[in-house]
Amino acid sequence: MPEYQGNLKSKLPKTGTSIFAVMTALANEHKAVNLAQGFPDFSCSEKLVELVNQYMKKGFNQYAPMPGVMKLRESIAAKTEELYSAIYHPEKEITITPGGTHALYAAITAFVKEDDEVIVLEPCYDSYVPAIQLNGGRPIFFELKYPDFKVDWNELKKLINHKTKMIIINTPHNPSGATLNAQDMLKLQKLVMNTEIIILSDEVYEHIIFDGLEHQSVARFPKLAERSIIVSSFGKTYHTTGWKMGYVLAPAALTAEFRKVHQFIAFCANTPIQYALADFMEDKNAYMGLPQFYQEKRDYFQKLIKGSRFKILECQGSYFQLLNYAKITQENDAEFAKRLTKEFKVASIPVSAFYHKQIDNNILRFCFAKSNETLEKAAELICKI
Ligand SMILES: Cc1ncc(COP(=O)(O)O)c(C=O)c1O
Repeated sequence: MPEYQGNLKSKLPKTGTSIFAVMTALANEHKAVNLAQGFPDFSCSEKLVELVNQYMKKGFNQYAPMPGVMKLRESIAAKTEELYSAIYHPEKEITITPGGTHALYAAITAFVKEDDEVIVLEPCYDSYVPAIQLNGGRPIFFELKYPDFKVDWNELKKLINHKTKMIIINTPHNPSGATLNAQDMLKLQKLVMNTEIIILSDEVYEHIIFDGLEHQSVARFPKLAERSIIVSSFGKTYHTTGWKMGYVLAPAALTAEFRKVHQFIAFCANTPIQYALADFMEDKNAYMGLPQFYQEKRDYFQKLIKGSRFKILECQGSYFQLLNYAKITQENDAEFAKRLTKEFKVASIPVSAFYHKQIDNNILRFCFAKSNETLEKAAELICKI
């Protein structure tokens, strides 16, 4: 193919290939155990697969309604009311999306204009900042302090001014595994009272929370919920990250604006999967059992690597375990992660990749959403380091 001759002024000049793709490619090249990218290596429910097949065979293969299949929206409304005592109307306040990332992008695009400021708590999921920048907004970074990654709301308050359009929060948190508690939510509520700030609440790990902690959705706090867009992901909840299915909860006026954008990015999400999920959601055990399922994985992984030279950091939720390697080497985290993949055959993600300034606290992120066999293999390698 002859090369493009025009003046390519990139809209994302500093963005390269994501670290997840880089580490996964490296893991494949060196036949390393891949605990880098966040996806389960075990199967999703057979029943769910059968349901999708059934709906495909029955002919549910054309566009779904733009906001989503009504039965699925109704199931989500019922679940949200039961879990968080919050009423979201399926018609006007719930939208099914092709994954959480799409939902985040559409939400940011719907509300962030040129020169608007968006407060981003770092380290953070890598899609937030490019989405803000593509819309002409300015990310305003707030650093969550190592090692507990708690939010100092008094400090965060100092970043708020008349240009602040949005604050993005994420609980349970990727990559740290920290969670926001009810006090955090009340402090945030107080902070934004009498402002027009919108909260974008990334709750894709809502069902992956441990040690008896309860997920504090913004939906539980009416004064926060009235200004919030909540993003959830079926991929995380049902071990189906490759299906790219999620949803958004937001009050009617925010949903209306959200849908204006959603309809022109994707129009709708996958039809047969929506019908299948609506049926599958009738079994509450599938999501109510998730905390225990993943807590066992976390505990098993921690037990297996206890004898290693890494320091295990606290993990309250999500399926990521941070390990500090300061006692092992002085190398920066990106170099060390690459060397571990090549020499020790175990792949992780350097946490500096989650900061715009690549802050390096000598920690690596390992995904424990893996079969016990994979965790055992990885742990054996980790213990040799
Ligand atoms: C914090 C966070 N938000 C959103 C997403 C995206 O979810 P989805 O796979 O449904 O697009 C992820 C996926 O890794 C995530 O970690």
